[in-house]
Amino acid sequence: TNTSRPVVLIAEKLAPSVLDALGDGVEVRHVDGTDRPALLEAVADADALLVRSATQVNAEVFAATRKLKVVARAGVGLDNVEVPAATANGVMVVNAPTSNIVSAAEHAVALLLSVARQIPAAHETLQNHEWKRSKFNGVELNGKTVGVVGLGKIGQLFAQRIAAFGVELIAYDPYVSAQRAAQLGIELVTLEELLERADAISIHLPKTPETKGLIGAEQLAKAKRGVIIVNAARGGLIDEEALAEAVKEGQVGGAGIDVFSTEPTTESPLFNVPGIVVTPHLGASTAEAQDRAGTDVAKSTILALAGEFVPDA
Ligand code: MLT
Repeated sequence: TNTSRPVVLIAEKLAPSVLDALGDGVEVRHVDGTDRPALLEAVADADALLVRSATQVNAEVFAATRKLKVVARAGVGLDNVEVPAATANGVMVVNAPTSNIVSAAEHAVALLLSVARQIPAAHETLQNHEWKRSKFNGVELNGKTVGVVGLGKIGQLFAQRIAAFGVELIAYDPYVSAQRAAQLGIELVTLEELLERADAISIHLPKTPETKGLIGAEQLAKAKRGVIIVNAARGGLIDEEALAEAVKEGQVGGAGIDVFSTEPTTESPLFNVPGIVVTPHLGASTAEAQDRAGTDVAKSTILALAGEFVPDA
């Protein structure tokens, strides 16, 4: 191998598009980013480190690097990358902020419908060779009020899609103007009002000190009885114990949850609660989103290695 080529260390399973877009100008190496000793050893020779969600890129990782110039995360947000530690080490951090936004919005819609029609539970009965037709009775979305918490790129895509079901749309987002929301056919309200009015709520927020635990026992108690809650954004935005309790009591009619306060996880208060549908952080897991994420991070990585300005997608 030509040792003069920059080394790009891929620490998680990324789409094949990443290799095509990286091209022959770099040497690609692979490591399992969750195998800490292996990662720390491999990163010593890396010029670029590519991750998805499972690799914790923190001060310990930067301390093990010698010539790292860029960390690229194949997704929206930078949750598993410690940006201040990167900056302190002169390492650029890039991501793929629009790669999977449609997939995330579609997954939220899928979770909402799965909960409204109890599809996973009904499926399970047939797997057990039981025909329990009378056990399952759903609710229509038509004519209901859907509350979108967080009206950024994904929240807007979710709203546009769910609008086709004939719902009234309300949203809470302190950073969006009422005029902008009105252009989208959405009434902007306070979180309190959204909780009082919505028959279904979908959360589309980043995880920040402000948003962590935004929906807790107090908020759930203020919500409309029987409300359906969807979170395909970030774990920890909703208090998991409180949500599980509220569903068991019937205050919350059901929930569709794709993200957890700790990930990966095989234990959660939200598992095995009738009415709660769970998926293991699959919002971005589509052929199209992964393809885009691979291409986007590869392009940004090449630019960063060339010392060029990386445009925000
Ligand atoms: C994201 O931040 O875009 C997703 O969580 C990425 C992923 O699923 O790995």
